[in-house]
Amino acid sequence: MSPNQNPLHEETRAAWEVNAEVWDKRMGDDGNDFFNILCWPTLVSFLNPQPAAHILDIACGNGLTTRRLAELGCKVTAFDFSANLIEYAKQRLANYQSQITLRVIDATNEEQLLSLGKSQFDSALSNMALFDMADIEPLFRTLPKLLKPGGTFVFSITHPCFNNASSAHVVEEIDNNGEMQISYAIKTTRYMTPYSTRGLALRNQPMPQVYFERPLQYYFNLAFQHGFVLDGFEERAFPPETPQTHPLGWGGNFSEIPAAIVIRMRLQS
Ligand SMILES: C[S@@+](CC[C@H](N)C(=O)[O-])C[C@H]1O[C@@H](n2cnc3c(N)ncnc32)[C@H](O)[C@@H]1O
Repeated sequence: MSPNQNPLHEETRAAWEVNAEVWDKRMGDDGNDFFNILCWPTLVSFLNPQPAAHILDIACGNGLTTRRLAELGCKVTAFDFSANLIEYAKQRLANYQSQITLRVIDATNEEQLLSLGKSQFDSALSNMALFDMADIEPLFRTLPKLLKPGGTFVFSITHPCFNNASSAHVVEEIDNNGEMQISYAIKTTRYMTPYSTRGLALRNQPMPQVYFERPLQYYFNLAFQHGFVLDGFEERAFPPETPQTHPLGWGGNFSEIPAAIVIRMRLQS
């Protein structure tokens, strides 16, 4: 219940406050390729949101997923620990006020999470945010209380094996029996032990944020300990025809390597 003791927690909150304007401009109302190609199609299919369902949008940023859910007729409670991002979300979602509640809440703080109310939500969603959180144990501990019995938690994260902060994007040219071939690869040097390091979510953001990298088993075991079972899992790669905005950035050149995963956890009844 005490505030997060990790000094990197406050640093990363400060970074999100400083970067909020650039993030809001870049994501806009419609999001980027990562969101539209990799994440949203599977998130929405795993959530299968019914009109009037009450969904908790965890670490909602400027309200990208909140808007999509409201457009589908859902009631959405969305929160983020960045007051600046919540302000942008309020401006962008002004037309959906009757369906949406926006709050500044820190997902590492159990007391703040419990203020959302017990057994309120049919499902919870978190798009691309758990690796931005200094500590995800309070969230997994509290979600079973916030969700209705049998409720689901659907989240996307960068693929911990291929797209963590240690992953180097590599290109090689090979003379294959007289035919010059280019191949794109990922070299990963850290995976098993959780670690944190600074990095850029957007190339032009003013201040690096902190990534909190964890192996897949960390996410799964934490969820299992708190009464969830895994009932949906998809690895998401860009199709080959996806344009490359940077030669070695994520895009069609890396179509055989999944940059993201989407997971659905369900509370055991
Ligand atoms: C990569 S952004 C994703 C935002 C949004 N989900 C989207 O899809 O556009 C990560 C978000 O996590 C939020 N965040 C990081 N740590 C948090 C915490 N402890 N509590 C609440 N939000 C947090 C950041 O402020 C940021 O908005």
